[in-house]
Amino acid sequence: MALKTIRLNSENPADLKKAIHWLQEGKIGALPTETVYGLAGDATRSTVAERIFQAKDRPAEDPLIVHVASPDFAKLFGIFPEAAFRLGQSFWPGPLTLIVPKTHRIPSPVTAGGSTVALRNPSHAVMHQILKDGKLALAAPSANSFGKLSPTRADHVLSQLDGKIDFILDDGPTGWGVESTVLDVSQPNHWKLYRPGPVDLEELRVWVQGEGYDLKIEDCSRESAREQESHPLPSPGILAKHYAPHTALKLIHSAEVKDREKGIHAGKRWGLIKTGLSPDVASNDVHPQIKYCSEDGTLESAGKNLYAHLHTLDRAGYDMLYVEIFPHSGLGAALNNRLFRAASEKDSNY
Ligand code: TXA
Ligand code: MG
Repeated sequence: MALKTIRLNSENPADLKKAIHWLQEGKIGALPTETVYGLAGDATRSTVAERIFQAKDRPAEDPLIVHVASPDFAKLFGIFPEAAFRLGQSFWPGPLTLIVPKTHRIPSPVTAGGSTVALRNPSHAVMHQILKDGKLALAAPSANSFGKLSPTRADHVLSQLDGKIDFILDDGPTGWGVESTVLDVSQPNHWKLYRPGPVDLEELRVWVQGEGYDLKIEDCSRESAREQESHPLPSPGILAKHYAPHTALKLIHSAEVKDREKGIHAGKRWGLIKTGLSPDVASNDVHPQIKYCSEDGTLESAGKNLYAHLHTLDRAGYDMLYVEIFPHSGLGAALNNRLFRAASEKDSNY
């Protein structure tokens, strides 16, 4: 029988207390973070992890991220090489997830049986308060059904998980709107980027150089689907098909945008998402099938809106969604990475 998912509001202190209490009791609920909403539960209990997998319909071999209140608290759950801990101290709290060998405090289902754990110290004020006041370590994958679009609003969560989780703490739209950077720092001299995110590769490399460490960071986030099939996945979330809407999605270059707009005005049942980065975006094309990501010409603003536009146009049930590719640097690389995985046709556009 379906559960009743209780709606809590982050502005109500009594609701915050309730969320903490329920998580301590072993319940699972959706919480806001500075990236996307997470489906959280006590990371030290196997049964809680199992409920999270079940609610998301997530394969048991895809490990969860554990959220903690500080770098020092992270040390209870992961064994950090020296440079990795210094990195955590520099970039935390924030949207960077570090993979390190796990300690005995993390039960095996959380890490999908693996010897490493993904740890993150989020900067979101509400999430932070829950972790700190509740003295909790929270396993929290993105609060969506497996392989589907990540949620940046409470209603995105409910459209996928209503009746499958105990509660949701509504805090309005999330900050970055795109998931954290995932970096494997378990080897002392060779780090691996599995998922690009708000902390970009260049920033990480500049940090390494500035600190004088002799280590290389390999970008493993762009492996092709064929390469992934040929050997076991180091990080299951880099699966080729992921973050996918129900509607077929095709990436297009800026030069093709005009043609798609013409098609829509001529009656085609297409959705179109434009980056909104070029100066002409203020163009008042308020056609409901056409969305602009950026409101002010910045990638940060585009990131906040991209998933919301995908959710909205996906619900409308059009024949096809066309999405304009972002410039491939900084946050743009992270957004393109998600779009490439969401695309139904893997073509040379990426
Ligand atoms: O921003 C975020 O990271 C959000 C918020 C809620 O914190 N969480 C999130 O979790 O995106 P999830 O589970 O959707 O993505 C975690 C990614 C997956 O691709 C997973 O395969 C990978 O991290 N991962 C987790 N633990 C790992 C490990 N021990 N080794 C390799 N990859 C791991
Ligand atoms: Mg996810």
